[in-house]
Amino acid sequence: MSFPDGFLWGAGTSAYQIEGHHGRGESVWDVFCRRPGAVEGGGDGSRACDSFVRWREDVELVKELGLGAYRFSTGWSRVMPDGAHADPKALDHYERFTDALLEAGAEPVLTLNHWDMPASLTWAERSSVNAFTSYAQAVADRLADRVTWWITQNEPWIIALLGYQLGLHAPGVADLGTAVKAGHHVLLGHGAAADVLHAFPGTKAGAALSLFPCDPATGSAADRAAARGSDGYVNRWYLDPLLGDGYPADMREHWERALGHGLDFVRDGDEAAIGGRSDFLGVNYYTRRVMAAAPPDPFPWKVVGPSGDVARTDEGWEINPGALRDLLVGLSRRFPGTPLMITENGGVFGDTPTHDGRVHDDRRIAYLRDHVAAVESAIEAGADVRGYLHWSLMDNFEWALGYRPRFGLVHVDYATGARTVKDSGRYYARLIAGGGQAPALPRIEAFG
Ligand code: FCB
Repeated sequence: MSFPDGFLWGAGTSAYQIEGHHGRGESVWDVFCRRPGAVEGGGDGSRACDSFVRWREDVELVKELGLGAYRFSTGWSRVMPDGAHADPKALDHYERFTDALLEAGAEPVLTLNHWDMPASLTWAERSSVNAFTSYAQAVADRLADRVTWWITQNEPWIIALLGYQLGLHAPGVADLGTAVKAGHHVLLGHGAAADVLHAFPGTKAGAALSLFPCDPATGSAADRAAARGSDGYVNRWYLDPLLGDGYPADMREHWERALGHGLDFVRDGDEAAIGGRSDFLGVNYYTRRVMAAAPPDPFPWKVVGPSGDVARTDEGWEINPGALRDLLVGLSRRFPGTPLMITENGGVFGDTPTHDGRVHDDRRIAYLRDHVAAVESAIEAGADVRGYLHWSLMDNFEWALGYRPRFGLVHVDYATGARTVKDSGRYYARLIAGGGQAPALPRIEAFG
């Protein structure tokens, strides 16, 4: 087996997606969900999986699956309802929860911003960085003595793209210039929160990036340039400053051209305040992008695939574990000395309980097996990977897609809140118990 000692096997969730309201402050997502048509099916996070109340059951699930790590987020709008002052009762809750995880033998991996920003704040304003810093300080003061792994920001590109460029996520702004600015503030927030965390001995701070390998549709020079440009837009614009290289020059020129002005919101010293502060890099991997050249406005590239007859999840995303392997190997070569953690990987498979009360989600089992094998093969090829956290422990509120897509190892009946471990959950438990050794698929049925 190639998995190093101490490799963290786990799963993740986030506060807004599972907790339910239960007295938290209003977040940008509460406001966004009220917009007619914003969320498929008209749902919101007011009930979700009711985990704020049923958290002991969730910890039992972590135990039952034998997870060595659990990624969760502290609700920013719960901890700081007005965006400025911490609510000690909310921190009491997360303290109890963290202690229960530790008691269950699971390493907490704590995300500070998994998108439920208090409604009074916006990443469009630079003042959000200070607000985020005070929030990070309040959580760290309580928990940094027992939480080692901290994720400052979840998916800066997705926040900028869906939240501020396309308006498909909270806060629903659709403006390119605002998106680039907001993304910069998110990265500054990472730097500032990492500085807060590093005042506590033993903490490890990193951001979790949504990384999409970008492949050219053909071997033409134009498509290859499109893939490179797309990689700059999606991946390098965040990776390079985080890992100390500053913003990539080609993308900076691209933004200046597309926006028709300089990036005056990037002030002297900002890049130095973002870089050199990551103890690890969180990798969220779902699929890749296939790119072709396009007319230049506003982007000289477009997504054209993967097309055709490839394996796909129920959401239509290509299943491509080989691209994860290459991504991990490439990252470790490009940024030696920065350990990697898979902070999200998973797929939508809509299986629900059958007459025997079980959820036979064989495609998720195959997905899990093949992606874990890809991680192992990346480690064999020299990638420094320290953990694999599957998305998600349980079905939950999938943002603008509402409750339709099911990502969980555990099924949730949203009417009753009842949790049922899926076959994939049982499979994962076996895989973890075997140190990453994949149980043979024909034995799935025997995992009583
Ligand atoms: C990621 C998010 C996570 C979940 C998965 C499917 O973009 O971080 O909350 O929605 O996608």
